[in-house]
Amino acid sequence: MTTPIDSIIIKREIEKMGLTSVGLASIRELNRLVNNIEAAANETYIRMEMGVPGLDPPRIAIDAEIDALKKGVGSKYPPFDGIPELKFEISRFVKNFIDVAIGPESCFPTVGSMQGCYMAMMCTTRRLNGKNKILFLDPGFPVNKRQASVIGVPYDHFDVYDYRGDKLRAKLESYLEKGDIASVMYSNPNNPAWFCFTDQELQTIGELATEYDCIVMEDLAYFGMDFRKDYSVPGQEPYIPSVAKYTDNYILLISSSKSFSLAGQRIGMTAIPERLFNSEGNNLEPYFGSNKFGYAYIFGAMYALSSGVSHSNQWGLAGLLKAVNDGGYNFVDSVKVYGDRAKVMKKLFTDNGFQIVYDMDEDEKIADGFYFTISYPGFSGVELVEELLYYGISAISLTTTGSDKHEGLRACVSQTGPDRFDDLENRLKTFKEDHPKDSEFKIIHM
Ligand SMILES: Cc1ncc(COP(=O)(O)O)c(C=O)c1O
Repeated sequence: MTTPIDSIIIKREIEKMGLTSVGLASIRELNRLVNNIEAAANETYIRMEMGVPGLDPPRIAIDAEIDALKKGVGSKYPPFDGIPELKFEISRFVKNFIDVAIGPESCFPTVGSMQGCYMAMMCTTRRLNGKNKILFLDPGFPVNKRQASVIGVPYDHFDVYDYRGDKLRAKLESYLEKGDIASVMYSNPNNPAWFCFTDQELQTIGELATEYDCIVMEDLAYFGMDFRKDYSVPGQEPYIPSVAKYTDNYILLISSSKSFSLAGQRIGMTAIPERLFNSEGNNLEPYFGSNKFGYAYIFGAMYALSSGVSHSNQWGLAGLLKAVNDGGYNFVDSVKVYGDRAKVMKKLFTDNGFQIVYDMDEDEKIADGFYFTISYPGFSGVELVEELLYYGISAISLTTTGSDKHEGLRACVSQTGPDRFDDLENRLKTFKEDHPKDSEFKIIHM
């Protein structure tokens, strides 16, 4: 049987990469494999494996950065915790869009929110003696677990989809009551599943974080991108739901990569409420030179990691945030196109025998956004990754994201514009014909 992409080439490239399992490959490994196949086969895949923005960076950020470079900031070290202009705008941004007041002192830039996550892990898991574990509310961003492993931090996880709503409290408490959980991490909207916690769930998480003195690391990598509501107007309801409303034990990790299409710049934001920032731990000093949480964060972790964020880049983000805060640049409108794509792409998949794996926010359908999840009867997620390669479609398996019981793939819409919808449809139709429902669902190519 012939497939849209030559199976001999695919098999050869898989062998060359020496992967033990294609379906369990990391995002970057799969990305490399598909690049190689595309080059060898002279074909273009429907690339859904990696969450890279498919849009141009905003002109305002580019101009502000160029201006700063021309003024010569390149020769000067920036402050570890950010230039005052940026700290001020981050603080305004958090107030304008989440409606929580965090002063500029504890708002600072990081090298991508990736570095923000890393620092949060370092500092929260060494804050208190006896509390050294992270609890991941999965599914999640696979590299966060790699970060924990790199710093030797133990972690636990569970698939939170099975414990939504009223079930969440008891499940969370069953981990927290052991006493060793230092911090809890999740992304909202969720990468990979795109579900969003409700206010009631965030309240539960917040209340328990206070009760058990652990820190919530709230990863807002897709800030404002739940397009079911319009979060785009600064200082006006609706505000972006956040655990910040329900506890002081939290760290906000905000990415500029997707919401502002600035992934290449590697600049993100961290905001820590004053109460936590000014608090003292009893186990920070040996690692960071001080038991003061905020001091350890900046003069311990940030100093050791990268000593700040590139200077001109900070001016670029400060310029953009100022425009956003002043109401002159609507960042949500600029990325809404991802939701439109998801709507069409999800339909193409479901029309061709696929199902959406994580499909509900309690009793409401999940939003159309940057990612969605799919499964096909008879296939595990790991098998489906490999089989779809023969049909010119690449995505990652949910197994790599900490999905416990839910087999399937994460699909990212960012690289697939409307000009590729026909290709996607044709490839999915062929896949469906080759894998009919009433057959044994044999995997044909792997
Ligand atoms: C959940 C989550 N957190 C963090 C990041 C990293 O963001 P940044 O590019 O700002 O480092 C991503 C990027 O894909 C993400 O999906």
